[in-house]
Formats: sequence, structure tokens, C-alpha cells
Amino acid sequence: MKINLKVWRQKGPDAPGKLVDYALDNVSQDMSFLEMLDMLNEKLIVEGEEPVAFDHDCREGICGACGVVINGQAHGPNRRTTTCQLHMRSFNDGDEIYIEPWRARAFPIIKDLMVDRTAFDSIIQAGGFISANTGSAPDANEILVGKDVSDHAMNAAECIGCGACVASCKNASAMLFTAAKAEHLNTLPQGKPERNVRVQKMVLAMDEAGFGNCTNTGACEVQCPKGISITNIAAMNANYVRSMAGSEVKVTK
Ligand code: SF4
Ligand code: FES
Repeated sequence: MKINLKVWRQKGPDAPGKLVDYALDNVSQDMSFLEMLDMLNEKLIVEGEEPVAFDHDCREGICGACGVVINGQAHGPNRRTTTCQLHMRSFNDGDEIYIEPWRARAFPIIKDLMVDRTAFDSIIQAGGFISANTGSAPDANEILVGKDVSDHAMNAAECIGCGACVASCKNASAMLFTAAKAEHLNTLPQGKPERNVRVQKMVLAMDEAGFGNCTNTGACEVQCPKGISITNIAAMNANYVRSMAGSEVKVTK
């Protein structure tokens, strides 16, 4: 296939950026989207140009590193598919493909298609953990957990922290990510004792990082490669309100 690319190039965080045209011949339909970008970079290196910077790690849909906006959609046209799991067979010979970085104030651009997602780390550092020693696996397995509770927690735990929810939200809200990380722990018996403080701290960290508010448009759920449900947001909101009304601890920082 022949593919016409328009790739966002930006030398650094404060440099001006622009879309640059590249044409690639002999793109195989079996290539992944990132392999196609590798092919572009090999061509650029041979031609003495600087390769395009983009993030990736596992290339198996697990790590969440590879997010880019493809033709206006976070992770591209296929539902529940990370950029690394997207294949060129999803495109046609002669297609024009726009490739841009996540765009959100809380995710500043580092270079080209790479953004800084440290803001997500700050939310996890605020409350995405259990501080009690829960013992080894056999100890943890002695606590019976209902199937519905376990399913709810494990569905939330599927979040890979890619940031597509933020990039696809008109408010650049991180509510889906934060809710998934909070609900995963809040639902299980080991996480319940700290849930009031956890939800308050994580919401505060989310606001301080500069993410916008949720207005229930649902774009995050549609673009999430792991299908995290916005019902997690409703559950976190309910938990937050309950914790502010009933908890002896108020996190104000
Ligand atoms: S909720 Fe979905 S879109 Fe958002 S960070 Fe997690 S996996 Fe990515
Ligand atoms: S590179 Fe790890 S999810 Fe895509």
C-alpha cells in the first residue's frame, strides 16, 4: 500500500509544532501501526532527517505507552484497540493519515508524538495503593470475595493508564482513569478501610494536576482501549460525596 502521512513534528515542549507530509510506499497490511512508524523512521534516518519521536514499550496492548491521535481518534479507528495493536489492514491504499500527540494541558508535549503523563503518576501516588500489609498470595486468597465484586474490581483494574480518556474528552478530564484506579481498590475488602481518604486524595491530585471536569459526554468510554465503563465515575462520585459527608478525615492540602 501507499500511505500519505501528516505527522505532528515539534522539537521540544516550547517549540512551535506543525504537521509534516511524508509518503510511504510498500506498507504491508500485516504491519502494526507502530511498525509502519518504524518504517518511516528508518527512511528518515537514511535520508539524514531526524526520526519521529513516539512512545511505546510492550507493543502488546498492556503498558499504555503508545497512545497517539490518529485521524482525530485516540488510538485510531478500531474500538478497544491500542495503537500498537492497530494494523495497517485497517487502512486503504492511498489513505491520508493524520498522526498527532495527546492534547491536554496536563500532558505537555515532550517531542513530536510524545507527551509527559507524569500527572497520572501524581494521582496514583496520592491514593492508588493499599498501605496495610496484606500478606502473601495465600493470605489474600483466604478473604472470600463475591464474584460480582471481584468482576467490578477486575474490570476497573484493566485500565492501562494510556491517557486516551483524557485526550478524547473535550474537557481533558481524567475522571475515567482516576475512577478506575480508585474503584479497583475501593471495591475489594483489602482496599475498603482507606477508601474515604483514598478518593479524596486522588480527586484532589487530579484537580491539582490541571485536568478538567467531567460533563458526562461519554467520549472517554468510547475511546478507551480497555472498555472501562463510566459507571466507575458514578461510583467514585458517590463515594466522594459520602466520604466528604461522613468521614472524619477531610483532605484539603
Ligand atoms: S481509563 Fe481507559 S483510556 Fe483512560 S487511561 Fe485507563 S485504559 Fe486508557
Ligand atoms: S506499546 Fe504497550 S500498550 Fe501499546
